[in-house]
Amino acid sequence: METVEISDIGRHVDQEVEIRGWLYNIRSKGKIAFLQLRDGTGKIQGVAEEAGCGAECLACIAELKMEASVKVRGKARRDERAPSGFELTVTGVEVVQNPADDYPISKKEHGIDFLLENRHLWLRSSRPTAIMRIRDQAITSFRAFFRERGFLLIDTPILTGSIGESAGTLFTVPYFDLGDAYLAQTGQLYLEAACIAYGKVYNFGPTFRAEKSKTRRHLTEFWMLEAEVAYADNADNMRLQEDMVSRVVADVCANCAAELAALERDVEPLKKVQPPFIRMDYGDAVKTLQGKGSTIQWGDDLGGEDETVLTKLHEKPIFVMNYPKKAKAFYMKENPENTETVLCSDLLAPEGYGEIIGGSQREDILEKLLSRIHEEKLPEESYGWYLDLRKYGSVPHSGYGIGLERTLAWICGSQHIRECIPFPRTISRIYP
Ligand code: 4AD
Ligand code: MG
Repeated sequence: METVEISDIGRHVDQEVEIRGWLYNIRSKGKIAFLQLRDGTGKIQGVAEEAGCGAECLACIAELKMEASVKVRGKARRDERAPSGFELTVTGVEVVQNPADDYPISKKEHGIDFLLENRHLWLRSSRPTAIMRIRDQAITSFRAFFRERGFLLIDTPILTGSIGESAGTLFTVPYFDLGDAYLAQTGQLYLEAACIAYGKVYNFGPTFRAEKSKTRRHLTEFWMLEAEVAYADNADNMRLQEDMVSRVVADVCANCAAELAALERDVEPLKKVQPPFIRMDYGDAVKTLQGKGSTIQWGDDLGGEDETVLTKLHEKPIFVMNYPKKAKAFYMKENPENTETVLCSDLLAPEGYGEIIGGSQREDILEKLLSRIHEEKLPEESYGWYLDLRKYGSVPHSGYGIGLERTLAWICGSQHIRECIPFPRTISRIYP
């Protein structure tokens, strides 16, 4: 007898097959039992009746607990009323393991903390399943986008010797006789070296920030995709970002309709995500926010609340451009038209979600970069190699980083970034 995956059952109608999976629910009454089966590829209902599988099998089924692992044999039938379109008429059940205890996650509502404490089990439920599939699709689309455009994938190191973003959120690791190393806050500086070598490059990997903030938007370990392009200015940079984001959203809408439906995500706002996005100067954003009652002053970074307010004014994502120098990282290029600001943009996702991308043109002039390193009191000696990039063949170049989980929270319509990564790490969670 052939073992089949539930997603493939349509090719086996009227055949007797075996499904290897788990029972996510079971209803047994007298001479009939309904087995809700999942195998990771999909879900199907098995109907067991004494006439089909025998009294002994039915008695065995009646003993099964939720999440028992089972091999179920039966005849695949088309059934218009079934959510999957198919049903299995059970002819036999082999129990692999029947739990002694009741499964901790029941049908009733559980709080997020309980669910996260049981993340290793919660992953099996339908909501996490949908999010993980959308995550997989998004990653696949990101990679395809860059490959099609001729970018080279460069894996940047996780153990690093120089501060990439800000000293305040570093994870430090003792590193043999060399003192402290840091877990990467960004691969950007290394990507800059690679873009001078190869032109168009990107990376994608785990990123670490010792963020003290307990917000819906912060993890201590998250996945970031970064791109870096030689001879590109900040306007080129924004065009690349809007093309990339639109492509990924469109792919998810096209290929994950069932998952979005399972999440009850309204897809209409997602369909509006097409270039060009909104472009808004930082100064105008501040004025708009002040007009709406925010206490923000020119010079401040935008707070999460401010971002939410702005995104509710437009249906499309918004680039907020040219922030004050003092609110941003040392490597951003000074704006020649207003030297108090830098050539940069944050991309805010609609519907209240806020920043998903940080990007900028990089300071390509050695003296200016050095003085920024001094102003920020960064240790010049650990940036020798980075400064070399401005000594040997320096060119205008730009890049950005997109946070995968924040992007997924928006696409999935999730209230919390923590459910958009398989095993979230926050300041108060490293279990499971
Ligand atoms: O704006 P950030 O800090 O930019 C950089 O790291 C640049 N070096 C990127 C570059 O230009 N190559 O971070 C980029 C994105 C943010 O917009 C956000 O989506 C995500 O990374 N991010 C976080 N996501 C989850 N938890 C956190 N603590 C995050 N910090 C940043
Ligand atoms: Mg940022």
